[in-house]
Amino acid sequence: MNFFNNKQGVVAQLVYGALLIILIVVLISINSFSIIKKYKIGLNESLNNQAYIYAKSIYTLLRDNMGDNELLQKKVESLIDRNSEIKNFTILEPREDGFEIVVSTNKEQIGKRTNFYLYKMAWNQKDYQGIATDAISAGIALEEEDKKFADDLLRQGGNWFVALPMFNQFDQKEAILSIMISSQFENDITQKNQISSLILTMVTIIVVIMFLAITLRIWDYALLYNKMKEVDKMKDEFISMASHELRTPVTGIKGYSSMILDGSFGEVSESAMKGVSIIKSAADRLAILVEDLLDVSRIEQGRIEIKSAILDPDTVIKEIIEELKIQADSKKINLLFRPHKDILPKINIDPDRLKQILINIIGNSIKYTEKGMIEVITEEKNKKLFIKIKDTGIGMSSEAQKRLFQKFYRVKNDKTKEITGTGLGLWITKRIIELMNGNIEVESIEGVGSQFSISFEIK
Ligand SMILES: Nc1ncnc2c1ncn2[C@@H]1O[C@H](COP(=O)(O)OP(=O)(O)OP(=O)(O)O)[C@@H](O)[C@H]1O
Ligand SMILES: [Mg+2]
Repeated sequence: MNFFNNKQGVVAQLVYGALLIILIVVLISINSFSIIKKYKIGLNESLNNQAYIYAKSIYTLLRDNMGDNELLQKKVESLIDRNSEIKNFTILEPREDGFEIVVSTNKEQIGKRTNFYLYKMAWNQKDYQGIATDAISAGIALEEEDKKFADDLLRQGGNWFVALPMFNQFDQKEAILSIMISSQFENDITQKNQISSLILTMVTIIVVIMFLAITLRIWDYALLYNKMKEVDKMKDEFISMASHELRTPVTGIKGYSSMILDGSFGEVSESAMKGVSIIKSAADRLAILVEDLLDVSRIEQGRIEIKSAILDPDTVIKEIIEELKIQADSKKINLLFRPHKDILPKINIDPDRLKQILINIIGNSIKYTEKGMIEVITEEKNKKLFIKIKDTGIGMSSEAQKRLFQKFYRVKNDKTKEITGTGLGLWITKRIIELMNGNIEVESIEGVGSQFSISFEIK
């Protein structure tokens, strides 16, 4: 995942995020606008038809009075009074040089001639059906004069222009009926629809941007996570290297102080002996610490080796108790082994690791017990072997019991402040037990004592 590990990577992901935002915004906008456009086209078509049908029905009303322009003018005026959506009403008759306005809601227009192209188109329709168009299209006239005429019509407030040829009783084309119809109502609806769809688009875009912003933040966390993993690895490598390097000098100190103490270098004064034995015990503690650190790095890097063997747990426990008895005796603590009454089945685990586990747990019991006794009990239950280590020590709170197996965790109180340790022992113990498919549990009461119980499956 090198992508996350350098500055270019960060820039690349920012650019990628920005492009994504732009792309999504553009796509959503295109989609919304094309929907609005299609909707408008559909609506226009239906309005166009409506306007045409409207004009046709007016034509039927006027048809019988064809030729009587005065009567037609009166009828038209009364029609306009009753129908506010009709904005302009004109009847034109063809002459050699264009169309003459013979009836009009705009009386000044009467008598005037025009060559407005839409009238010509309506007159020349093959099927005599006439034409209907929206006023905006009507405005796109080719000639300057037409343009003026169309602008005049537009100014009168109509939106739909309809022009139909009118026929006399001999079914001959005689005039053109032209009206402008307002479609304010429909326009309002269209506008409302446009606004609401625009708002919806905006909201969608904002939501998408917010979502992408979160995604970018997740990327940041990924970046941070990788950095932390890197630092953690460096720390592991450092611990591993440092503890390896410490091992040799510590072994040297231990070895030579032992040799001085057992007289290999001849007689030494009593006070020097005292000093050397202090050096020896400090070196012993240091050696244990170095071994613990090496174990931590082995476990964390998955390098720990488990060499399982079929073994009799009692033998191992007896051996360890023998070893630790000196320590317990020095504190006048009774360290006892209470084996299971029957001979226990053998288990398949690493004997050296079992010894390490027992030294850690029994060692803790000796460390954290002031007086009384420590019992090591073996039991067989549910096809499992249980080893219980029970002490009458200082015990610990339930809070401490929860955190007990964390790395570097140590209980800090008056009773423990004089006792040295790193807080690694139980962390290592638990990891090793789990690597051997075992389990560890603790029960404890402050001031009364603790019981650690480890179990392994019997195979
Ligand atoms: N038998 C016990 N009775 C009371 N407290 C205990 C007992 N065993 C462990 N503890 C508490 O749990 C803590 C963690 O134990 P752990 O063995 O991990 O560390 P440590 O003994 O302090 O150091 P080390 O790494 O040298 O073993 C101890 O510091 C101690 O406070
Ligand atoms: Mg310990």
